[in-house]
Amino acid sequence: MECTDRQPFDIVRDILKVIEELNTLKDVDAILDKVLDEARTMTSADAGSIFLIEGDHLRFSYVHNDTLFKGTEASKHIYTDLTVPINEQSIVGYAAMTGETLNIPDAYELPENTLYSFNKKFDEDTGYRTGSMLTIPLKTFQSKIVGVMQLINAKDSNGKVRPFTPYHIQYAPLFANSASVTIERGIMTREIMLRMMKMAEMRDPKETGAHVQRVGAYSSEIYQQWARKKGIDEFTIKRKKDTLRLAAMLHDVGKVGISDVILRKPGRFEPHEAAIMKWHSVYGAALFANTTSELDQLCKEVALGHHERWDGKGYPGRLPADLSEARGLCVEEIAGEAIPLAARITALADVYDALISSRVYKDAWPEEQVVAEILRGRGTQFDPDVVDAFMEIQDVIRAIRHKYQG
Ligand SMILES: [Fe+2]
Ligand SMILES: [Fe+2]
Repeated sequence: MECTDRQPFDIVRDILKVIEELNTLKDVDAILDKVLDEARTMTSADAGSIFLIEGDHLRFSYVHNDTLFKGTEASKHIYTDLTVPINEQSIVGYAAMTGETLNIPDAYELPENTLYSFNKKFDEDTGYRTGSMLTIPLKTFQSKIVGVMQLINAKDSNGKVRPFTPYHIQYAPLFANSASVTIERGIMTREIMLRMMKMAEMRDPKETGAHVQRVGAYSSEIYQQWARKKGIDEFTIKRKKDTLRLAAMLHDVGKVGISDVILRKPGRFEPHEAAIMKWHSVYGAALFANTTSELDQLCKEVALGHHERWDGKGYPGRLPADLSEARGLCVEEIAGEAIPLAARITALADVYDALISSRVYKDAWPEEQVVAEILRGRGTQFDPDVVDAFMEIQDVIRAIRHKYQG
């Protein structure tokens, strides 16, 4: 969707088509990625970022930069941990505070009477030269601002940086406003997931919301790397990455079915208690038994299979099938590729995070020791291809760990 010299009707029709596509996405990160992609195509912008409102701050939430980020480098920057106060001192803060779109032909030549200033730190750190900038508040139809999108360095047909055109200034905010509703829905979906996990967490203090966020993010990034190596097309990767992130967040949701006496027990479990705990995988799958969507199906696969092992020695495949709760769910021994990919990936992400984080009952292991443990399980506990993909994106994994602490 590019708007140069086209008729308004065509542009609006294209915007509506993109909004329809956006509505098929569920996770907020997938939505932000698509919004930025379309807005950049529309304006031929080299780079862009999206900040979302969080209390009285803006949280840096997504970034694209064609000049700087190649390959996994891009994923790492998505997880940058940065907040900006909503006030008149920064360009994004000013746009969020006033609801005004700011068109700046050159970030280094701001008019003298402006209250905000341009923060050169990113350029200084990376060697990038920010030129033109279009900063658009993301406003829903009820005029609620959910965040700010910043498009950087509009390019002409020769790839030379130029100011944003009157077309861009007219239509990019129109697209941003329509997309804001979808972004708000994505934020709500993520929050509902976190609340579901909060319920499980209230019952099982050993689990935390941050763990769930990390496992979701690790799993989606491992999948992306795995899928790129398999030559899967980018469109499929983005869709699957979107649903996998949410499904991986819900891996332990079945713990709501486990008795408090066991869940809240301090210290180690007795063997019979550990055996009961294993049923959380089956209970979780039972929640999504009547699958109505692709997301439900993936949630079911992850909940059921995230403790399976590549060599077949995991669970619930080897649990006795005579427990009544298991009725209706096929619990049989599985190994290798018979375990759904989403479960194979979440299994690694979950174990990695459990080892590298401190919990009430254990200290955090040093990173080298955790990585060595994962490599030791390559081909026995874990799918070797999943381990390889995970090893190749260690910088992304670290950035996620840093972003979701707690
Ligand atoms: Fe689990
Ligand atoms: Fe977990």
